[in-house]
Amino acid sequence: MNGSCRNRTAILISGRGSNMVSLVGAAAEPGFPAEIALVLSNRPGAGGLARAAEAGIATDVVDHKAYPDRESFERALDAHLAGAGIGLVCLAGFMRVLTPWFVERWTGRMLNIHPSLLPAFGGTHTHERALAEGVLIHGCTVHFVVPELDAGPIVAQAAVRVLPGDTPETLGARVLAEEHALYPAALRMVASGAVRLENGRVVREG
Ligand code: GRF
Repeated sequence: MNGSCRNRTAILISGRGSNMVSLVGAAAEPGFPAEIALVLSNRPGAGGLARAAEAGIATDVVDHKAYPDRESFERALDAHLAGAGIGLVCLAGFMRVLTPWFVERWTGRMLNIHPSLLPAFGGTHTHERALAEGVLIHGCTVHFVVPELDAGPIVAQAAVRVLPGDTPETLGARVLAEEHALYPAALRMVASGAVRLENGRVVREG
């Protein structure tokens, strides 16, 4: 393949891939501005790989355990993305910390979804921590990826109310339902050019 196409999108997963499924479904709609060209996992056993294959999407594995260090893993990852002519990357439950080298290569072209209203509750166990803090509003965020973990200019957010009696599971399920709507909406905005990153800040059309 010669070069990348701006809107050929790869989804990087490590697990079940429910956000990946929602992105694939949305991108199958006529007129969606991005094409899901590849689903790639760092774990050969990721459940999402089979779900992607069932949907007719090309899948690929770059197993981080096969590489001696983070940098060589990322060089392989980058080569696989380049080989597939990828122009946009969506991290969707991709459980590897990415180095500044990789992140900078994909600046403005790589999104992540996080299950909290960033900058609150970066990291893991976000629903448990939101409940422990007693917040009344929780949610999810799609952001451009920067070298710092769970940070970066925000593309879109969705909020959910915390209800009396919520457990991490009930709250997490409502947040996940919002993620499934938010990520396709965010990808649409970025792929269409309505939202872009300029000098480290999000610029929105209109
Ligand atoms: C989601 O909660 C996402 O926000 C987080 O990891 C989880 C991935 O779930 N980054 P799935 O694999 O998309 O079902």
